[in-house]
Formats: sequence, C-alpha cells, structure tokens
Amino acid sequence: MRVVVTGAGGFIGHHLVNRLKAEGHWVRGVDLKRPEFSPSSADEFLISDLRLPENCLRAAEGMDDVYQLAADMGGIGYITTNHALLTRNNVLINAHMLEAARLSRARRYLYPSSACVYPSFHQKSEDVTPLKEADAIPADPEKGYGWEKLFSEQLTGYYREECGLDVRIVRFHNIYGPMGVYDGGREKAPAAICRKAALASNGDAIEVWGDGEQTRSFCYIDDCIEGMRRIMESGCAEPINLGSDNLVTVNRLVDAVFRASGKSLKRAHDLTKPQGVRGRNSDNTLLKKTTGWQPETSLEEGIEATYRWIASEIAKSAPRTILAEVN
Ligand SMILES: NC(=O)c1ccc[n+]([C@@H]2O[C@H](COP(=O)([O-])OP(=O)(O)OC[C@H]3O[C@@H](n4cnc5c(N)ncnc54)[C@H](O)[C@@H]3O)[C@@H](O)[C@H]2O)c1
Repeated sequence: MRVVVTGAGGFIGHHLVNRLKAEGHWVRGVDLKRPEFSPSSADEFLISDLRLPENCLRAAEGMDDVYQLAADMGGIGYITTNHALLTRNNVLINAHMLEAARLSRARRYLYPSSACVYPSFHQKSEDVTPLKEADAIPADPEKGYGWEKLFSEQLTGYYREECGLDVRIVRFHNIYGPMGVYDGGREKAPAAICRKAALASNGDAIEVWGDGEQTRSFCYIDDCIEGMRRIMESGCAEPINLGSDNLVTVNRLVDAVFRASGKSLKRAHDLTKPQGVRGRNSDNTLLKKTTGWQPETSLEEGIEATYRWIASEIAKSAPRTILAEVN
C-alpha cells in the first residue's frame, strides 16, 4: 500500500512512519521539518507547508491511505496563548488535506482529534466520569485548539457523507513517550516533568503547574500507534477515543517520574500556571468493542522509558551547550 503521513517530522507521525515501514508499506512523509531526534524511515520525505492547497495535492497524490497528523500544536502553555494562529493554521491544513484526499481519490483518511473536544462542564472534578464519544455534543470544548478539532471532525464527517471518503476520526488522550519534544514551550506535562527531573540534583524541588491534584490519563506512544493501526483497519467512521483509562493525578505522574529518575526530589507547585480542566479520562467502551483491544502499557513502564530517553538526550546535548558557552 502507498501511504502518506503528514506531520511525519513530529512525534506521533515519526513513530507511525516507522511502524508502517515495518509493515512493508511504501511511505511518503510530509512536514515543515524533518524529525528532530532520528532520521525518518519514509521512502520519500517532502518538506512542505500544508496550509497551501497545492502542497496538499502534492502530498496526497497517488496515495491509498492518508494519515493527516500535521498540526500546529503544543502543551497547555502553548495552546492557551496562541488561539488565533493555531486555529487558523490547523483549519487551513485540515480543509486542504481533505479536499486533496478527495481529488486524488485516496482510499482511506485518518484524522487525529483530541480529548480537548470534550465540554468543560463534564470535566469539573478530579473524580471525573470517563468521557464517552457522544459527550462531545452539546459542545463547549477547549478554546481555540478544542474548537478547531471539533470543527475539523465535523468537516471530516461531511467528506464521508457527501464525498464518500472512508474516514477515521480518532480522539487521542495525552500521548507521551520517547522522541517527543521535551523543551522549548511546546512540550506536554510528562515530557516537561521528565526534563525538569533529569536536570535536577538530589534534594531539588521541581516546578509543577497547579496543585497537582488535577487528573488525567496518559497513553504511551506504542499503544497510540497500535490503536491507530487497529482503528484504520476497523472500518469505524465515527469519532472514537484512543487513550488509557487509568485515571491518575498529576502528582502521581510526578511521583512516577521521580522514581524513574532514582533521585530524591520535591515538588514546588505554581498555582499561577495554566492547568486545563480539573479532570479528564477516556471511556474505552467503543475502542474495545471496535478493536478488541485497549492500551496496555502501565504508567510506570511508559514513564521509565520516556525518562530514560529524555535524560540520555540531555546528557548528549550537555557537552555541546558547555562548549557553546565557552566559545
Ligand atoms: N500528542 C498528543 O498528546 C496529542 C493529543 C491529541 C491530539 N493530537 C494530535 O495528533 C497529531 C500529531 O500530534 P504530535 O503530538 O505528533 O504533534 P507534533 O507537533 O509533534 O507534530 C505535528 C507536526 O506537524 C507539523 N506541521 C505543523 N504545521 C505544519 C504545516 N503548515 N505544514 C506541514 N507540517 C506542519 C509540525 O512541524 C510537526 O512536526 C496532531 O493533529 C495533534 O493535534 C496529539
């Protein structure tokens, strides 16, 4: 099969390309940039801005499957301070990629949505009821990023209803793991906490946003890729959750990072920083029914692998930083 992965220079796209290559497909990667941490295994890699329709046409040309993972996105700090830019960029990318997939007669199209589409009124307490797909409407999603995801979900659905495109709409819940960005402002909580712990010395306190009692579920990258492949093959055209249903506090996430670091560290809570909804969890009933599977990596296993990778990247870059400072 000939498959295009847009956003192939990013975290999930890069892992997906590796998986599709291992399955024996011919893969085209497309992104504004190449992957940062290891070379892409794609057969062809286009550096291209997918906000432009002609670039989307080139990306989708001759492809059987489209995984549209390109997006302007980041952690809670980034998505809560760039509503206009991010919404505009992502609406353009998604609208043009859908049309390009239609024009080039792609067989299947996968759109990665987000748990940010769920209404804030369902997520006010730590002890949140897991979110079912139907809970997204009536809508009150996260400002900017969440509204854009919900709009693009709808648009993807219209392309199925009126243009016959065979679509998948997958709502990711906090994906983390090695080869994800861990500094610079776009990183998510698991990577940010791993970085802070890796840079800390025994006895230090690391900054945690909020009181740490806010709850989430975190899904390891290998499970995300496995789930995406299963959902693509499932035929399910309705929005579907892809996440862990193991609800934990951010404090418990921090404890898992501290254990993985082997250091004796303390938490310093900053209550002025954004922390998103109070609680969020994935209801995996539809995922299990559709794929016969759900994420299986424990938080401890996933954090151990992520911490090890981030600590080794920091150790690799440290001598370069010191040299640059000396020069
Ligand atoms: N990581 C998560 O926890 C998570 C959660 C929910 C949804 N998602 C969605 O999954 C998808 C992939 O996320 P990710 O974590 O790999 O993010 P990422 O930021 O690592 O990857 C996105 C990639 O898109 C590229 N991109 C941005 N603008 C582009 C443009 N104009 N043209 C071409 N490429 C462009 C970026 O350069 C980046 O490499 C996104 O749609 C994201 O919204 C991710």
